[in-house]
Amino acid sequence: MELFDAEIFIKEQIESIKKIEGKAVVGCSGGVDSTVATAIVGKAMGDRLLAIYVDTGYMRKGETESMDDFFTEMGINHKIIDAREEFYEAMEGVVEPEEKRKIIGNKFIEVFEREAKKFEADYLVQGTIAPDWIESGDDVRDTIKSHHNVGGLPEQMNLKLIEPLRDLYKDEVRVLARKLGVPSAERQPFPGPGLAIRVMGEATPERTEIVREACAIAEEEIDEAVVRGEMEKPWQYFAVLLPIKTVGVQGDKRAYGYTIAVRAVSSLDAMSARFFEIPNEVLERISTRITNVMKERVNRVVYDITNKPPGTIEWE
Ligand code: XMP
Repeated sequence: MELFDAEIFIKEQIESIKKIEGKAVVGCSGGVDSTVATAIVGKAMGDRLLAIYVDTGYMRKGETESMDDFFTEMGINHKIIDAREEFYEAMEGVVEPEEKRKIIGNKFIEVFEREAKKFEADYLVQGTIAPDWIESGDDVRDTIKSHHNVGGLPEQMNLKLIEPLRDLYKDEVRVLARKLGVPSAERQPFPGPGLAIRVMGEATPERTEIVREACAIAEEEIDEAVVRGEMEKPWQYFAVLLPIKTVGVQGDKRAYGYTIAVRAVSSLDAMSARFFEIPNEVLERISTRITNVMKERVNRVVYDITNKPPGTIEWE
């Protein structure tokens, strides 16, 4: 059996990256791959690396603060860019999912490039792992959603690449993440466009705030139920907001609020998935908490029981 030795891998990478002359930037938004790459290159290059975290306004609850703390603790030279207004403005009136992805992707590049230029970097660090480049450039499969983060940045920026994880698979990256104390080591996947594709239709700041809270509640309640042994951990679990208002009662008054759908799936590789059977007590806790915390804004919670296919995991 061939064992992956994280310590040796990290040491060798640091040794070889140390020899690189010049400065590097990395876009690090909390995903496990880019965070691990950042941690390794940071150890090798010190302040010659700048980690740029762009707050798009579509991040998970607490993500920006947690990444800021992580960079500080690791001694990584970093910059948190608050670009929320800029992204919200660009997304005004946009409802089509692929259009949302395109706008967010382009905006991200624009903001990132602006900051990278100021730093006068020669290199771009990317958290590319083996499946990213093995799976991209596939002519056979139809594009159902434009997922892949490969490409984009480097082509436009004219920077040389540093990709320390290029030959690794996800489980090996997770081993590294644990070794390095990366906060997202055990975390479920989170899509690049973030919460923008978890608000159906126009992802306004108000709706995004609601879905951010709903996702955090669903995640917390499920995590706690897993710890208590009430259920297995689903592969992915979150909430989406439907821009549909329904009538309810709050106290003795008529309420008219949004609908939240809870989604949890089991899957091996995200290509197909089965809806997860969350125990009713857990579902009830999620529903009660969401409608209590957001009394005026949400009065209905539904549960998605669709497999993939015919559905997809995300709703957009
Ligand atoms: P779907 O919804 O296609 O999702 O069944 C499969 C997996 O991919 C994630 N996903 C994305 N990841 N950019 C990403 O980086 C995206 O635009 C995107 N859309 C979906 C989804 O969360 C699931 O894990």
